Amino acid sequence: MATKEKSVFFCKSCGNESPKWFGKCPACGEWNTCVEEKEVRSKKIEDRRQKTEVVPLPIKEIVHSEEQRILLPFGELNRVLGGGLVMGSLVLVGGEPGIGKSTLLLQTALQLVGKKVLYISGEESQTQIKMRADRLGIRNEDCLILTETDTQEILKHFKQVCPDMVVIDSIQTLTSPYADATAGTITQIRESAAEMNKIAKSYQVPVFLIGHITKDGSIAGPKILEHIVDTVLQFEGDRHYGFRILRTIKNRFGASSELGIFEMNANGLREVNNPSEFLLSQRDEEVSGIAIAATMEGQRPMLIETQALVSTAAYGTPQRSSTGFDTRRMNMLLAVLEKRAGFRLSMKDVFLNIAGGIRSDDPALDLSVVAAVLSSNADIPISNRFAFAAEVGLSGEIRAVTRIDARIAEADKLGFEKIFISKYNAKGLDTKRFHIEVVPVATVYDLVTELFG
Ligand code: TYD
Ligand code: MG
Repeated sequence: MATKEKSVFFCKSCGNESPKWFGKCPACGEWNTCVEEKEVRSKKIEDRRQKTEVVPLPIKEIVHSEEQRILLPFGELNRVLGGGLVMGSLVLVGGEPGIGKSTLLLQTALQLVGKKVLYISGEESQTQIKMRADRLGIRNEDCLILTETDTQEILKHFKQVCPDMVVIDSIQTLTSPYADATAGTITQIRESAAEMNKIAKSYQVPVFLIGHITKDGSIAGPKILEHIVDTVLQFEGDRHYGFRILRTIKNRFGASSELGIFEMNANGLREVNNPSEFLLSQRDEEVSGIAIAATMEGQRPMLIETQALVSTAAYGTPQRSSTGFDTRRMNMLLAVLEKRAGFRLSMKDVFLNIAGGIRSDDPALDLSVVAAVLSSNADIPISNRFAFAAEVGLSGEIRAVTRIDARIAEADKLGFEKIFISKYNAKGLDTKRFHIEVVPVATVYDLVTELFG
């Protein structure tokens, strides 16, 4: 068998491939992310790459049919997949080790009645998986467990079993005989994923791939797979809180900013159908520095709490830190407050936190961040029956945001009394439909007057 061997260099962060070593990745600009791998491309693999013949067609002759979808037992999972699992799709579920990826997919596999699932694990033994299934308390005869890491062996079992759905736990443990590299290397991950994709596409069976990522991205994997797979879901959450967020990063079959919420219990994951009630902290007395934002996460309105703490800097340089909200954006908002509304914040420490370990980049959060900062600064509480939804511009103007109706409706549903929005959003808005009072504001200055008189 003729083989040619050469070194290739990959960027751990973006998967960029280069024939020579680099200190800074020319594609993504990250430093020290270069890894060397021996690429042994056998003749077999070259042959296999020969494509089947396709001919160009005029677009009107291409027939399009609605994708067929399997409805999974978790509504939240269906939501992030764009309304169910598409037949023949390859879905990557990424997340840090220990976050609950195996639990999520095993539970899904066990709860899926009437469908045959092949759960392939290269990480845990069959007994370990059995123990987990016992812990989840679900029995399902149609869920088959296989411990295997060789892609060609997997294909063999796949053909025997003919499952309706496949779960691979995890992509980093797979090895393909076609790629001559150890498991977990970029060459191996790419090749194995391509083979799994081929199985999914040629047999029209959905395949889930579990992929580990660490905070610093030191384990190669999910990043480089993003363009191979159809859907990328990220499972995230704060270990200190019970709940977990499943976020759509990419989806060929639906919106790519959807979000599903789960809670990890002693016996598995439970879906959280009403996130707003869950995310708003229960408090009886009113404290300063808290404001509630009416945000949109994907297609879903969600009320989340922004908390700010403003105090005189103990040391010379004031500290600025934020969790769950972009720090640069926070600094910009603080500069706007300083310059446009005359608040002296430059000598103050400012800490910002989105409650419940949530992370959001919805611009509509701006107004509530500003309100929370002002409330903490003045030490005057804001009623916990008030909500905020608007973007703040550089000149201190309050800007309109998308889907204002859905935001107002959600706040209304949860019994809020007032919602502060941009005056540009208020134009032509039928406020009579809601019980909640809609307060339009034009500038940061207006907001201050409305809130603190
Ligand atoms: P796991 O699914 O193994 O994570 P991953 O596959 O992402 O590495 O989940 C591990 C954590 O979840 C572990 O710390 C134990 C916890 N857990 C529960 O709290 N309840 C449960 O019912 C199960 C199965 C796990
Ligand atoms: Mg696992």
